[in-house]
Amino acid sequence: MTGALDNQTFRTAIVPAAGLGTRFLPATKAVPKELLPVVDTPGIEIVANEAAHAGAKRLVIVTSPGKESVVNYFRPAPELEENLERKGKTDLLEKVRRGPGLLDVEVAIQEQALGLGHAVAQAEANLTEEDTAVAVLLPDDLVLPIGVLERMAAVRARYGGSVLCAFDIPKEQISPYGVFDVTDTDDADVKRVHGMVEKPKPEDAPSTYAAAGRYLLDRAIFDALRRIKPGAGGELQLTDAVALLIEEGHPVHIVVHRGGRHDLGNPGGFLRAAVDFALDHPDYGPPLRTWLAERIENEGR
Ligand code: UTP
Repeated sequence: MTGALDNQTFRTAIVPAAGLGTRFLPATKAVPKELLPVVDTPGIEIVANEAAHAGAKRLVIVTSPGKESVVNYFRPAPELEENLERKGKTDLLEKVRRGPGLLDVEVAIQEQALGLGHAVAQAEANLTEEDTAVAVLLPDDLVLPIGVLERMAAVRARYGGSVLCAFDIPKEQISPYGVFDVTDTDDADVKRVHGMVEKPKPEDAPSTYAAAGRYLLDRAIFDALRRIKPGAGGELQLTDAVALLIEEGHPVHIVVHRGGRHDLGNPGGFLRAAVDFALDHPDYGPPLRTWLAERIENEGR
């Protein structure tokens, strides 16, 4: 594990990966969207690496019947490894071993896609007494550079309760997001949350702080998830359980992440991520840059 901190705040990261991936049809008829490669690495490995880097020792992947390949991706592949070793392909061998070596991966099954809150609830059976808080990372949301979970852990250590990640979005672009109603703390990038509004019109948005797919949740979330009713789309929403905790006086804060983000959940966002990562790649970057420049220059000619 590379550079892992000895993080006492959470040991377990939950990655919900049981959704239907409808925005990625037809590919998701056969391939889980979490395994689509950003250059050569599935999004779920990038997110698992982030969790491991923040000190998680265990990854609970919530998946659905038929999407077992997401979990199998993290299992060792001895025959393949032996083959690569024999051929002296050490670079590839290292890549193949990287995912399984990050942290211990376990599976929880969500039989039906009944919402993100319902998916997270399925991981409760995998927890131990030690897990007083858990991290939840959405595998289709890349938050860059990594490091926000460590800051969220520090906020929980100071205030207790639960901590979410937010981006500061220009007001006129806020409508597609869940937006936090907040008050300031003595740290400009840490706010106390009083509520949340889903997809508001810019004039109705209580702030410019939009939710991102990183959560550090007190274990009380599982009790709250049992008490909420299905919300938008008939699904059990994780944010409804967070809202219930807020109503009951549980401290909830956001850490405002001043970095980049990629939404891997739709083809447009995924392509941007792939191009972004590929441009930084030592082999693929330079020729891609040249080709893109030519392609754009020739456009409309
Ligand atoms: P999304 O809404 O982005 O994923 O959920 P989706 O439902 O697969 O996508 P579309 O809308 O059909 O295209 C965010 C994350 O939560 C998981 C998804 O797998 C994704 O990683 N999720 C969502 C579940 O695990 N279970 C659910 O019931 C819903």
